[in-house]
Amino acid sequence: MKVILFNGSRREHGCTYTALNIIAKALKENGVDSEIFFIGERAVNGDVDKLVEEAVEAVNGADGIVVGTPVYYASPSGEVVSFLDRLFISPKANLRLKPAAAIASARRAGTTASIDMLLKYFTIKEMPVVSSRYWPMVHGNSPEEVLKDEEGVQIMEVLGRNMAWLLKSIEAGKAAGIAAPEPVKQIKTNFIK
Ligand SMILES: Cc1cc2nc3c(=O)[nH]c(=O)nc-3n(C[C@H](O)[C@H](O)[C@H](O)COP(=O)(O)O)c2cc1C
Repeated sequence: MKVILFNGSRREHGCTYTALNIIAKALKENGVDSEIFFIGERAVNGDVDKLVEEAVEAVNGADGIVVGTPVYYASPSGEVVSFLDRLFISPKANLRLKPAAAIASARRAGTTASIDMLLKYFTIKEMPVVSSRYWPMVHGNSPEEVLKDEEGVQIMEVLGRNMAWLLKSIEAGKAAGIAAPEPVKQIKTNFIK
């Protein structure tokens, strides 16, 4: 079992990475592999299609995803939004029914609004949302500050543990003969009858 952890920051090894790493450690302790996928400025410098192609391959080989974003102006980063807009519309991306979680890193505020935006990608793709024991965020401007946010660190650990539990439960369900619900043909009315 494997989880892809998307780092939506421009800083490859900053606060978002630090939070994702805590989740990765908790996943490992619970028998689940993971890989951190750096989004970076490629999402906004004209290379997003190639980036998404690489991400599709990673997602299709994984059982769950976590999307991490720094908060920029009380919103997710432009990089992560640009990237997710393309990933979630890709017909090649096998996202449906894969457990997903969103986390945010901020100096001070804008975290819940950012997380709300990320969760909306998951819920229109029938992805079960993995939660933690409080809002899934860390606070800090540097990795060192994030690691001092004891509550945030615990929230990331619990999230990793919960993701591992859900993935194992889905595997156990499959082994017990519980079939995944078939996709339905979408009715699109655009509010017109
Ligand atoms: C352009 C920009 C805008 C930011 N806006 C906010 C903000 O609205 N609220 C906040 O608390 N922190 C804000 N920050 C601080 C970052 O969210 C915070 O330092 C975060 O932990 C950085 O994560 P990273 O190291 O993974 O990039 C901003 C940082 C940048 C670079």
